[in-house]
Amino acid sequence: MAADHSFIWHDGLLVGHPDIDDEHRQVVVLIRALRETPAGGLAEVMEALLRLAQAHFGHEDRLMEERDFPPRKCHIGEHAAVLASMSAVKARLERGDIAVVRRLADELERWFPAHVQHLDSALAHWIWKQAAGAKPLVFRRGAVTASAVVPA
Ligand SMILES: [Fe+2]
Ligand SMILES: [Fe+2]
Repeated sequence: MAADHSFIWHDGLLVGHPDIDDEHRQVVVLIRALRETPAGGLAEVMEALLRLAQAHFGHEDRLMEERDFPPRKCHIGEHAAVLASMSAVKARLERGDIAVVRRLADELERWFPAHVQHLDSALAHWIWKQAAGAKPLVFRRGAVTASAVVPA
């Protein structure tokens, strides 16, 4: 079943780490483009998404390794699985399969918010805890709350 097609950035996706949040904003834009771009422009979007995902996942993977983030194996494994799926879809797109790209958009729209809200938030929490002995403060429109993310 198709996911909600109004997939857009919202403050519920903030994790409180500025660099990660900036990268996540870019990921959201490209996932949406994966659904909305006409067939002729999809190769460019797919390439951009794959490059961004490699850079972003690599960034998070390095942060987890450098800071001995305890559940990093599971998180790094999830990144690797998603990259493998993206690469496989890119190869199928090169053979003319447009439908598989739209299905990837469905899957990423479901996967990304859950990944951010559980695994990436836990990483941001861990980084802030190490740096300041405190939880990150995450300011969201309409509410000001201390992040209550607990590592899985
Ligand atoms: Fe992640
Ligand atoms: Fe992330």
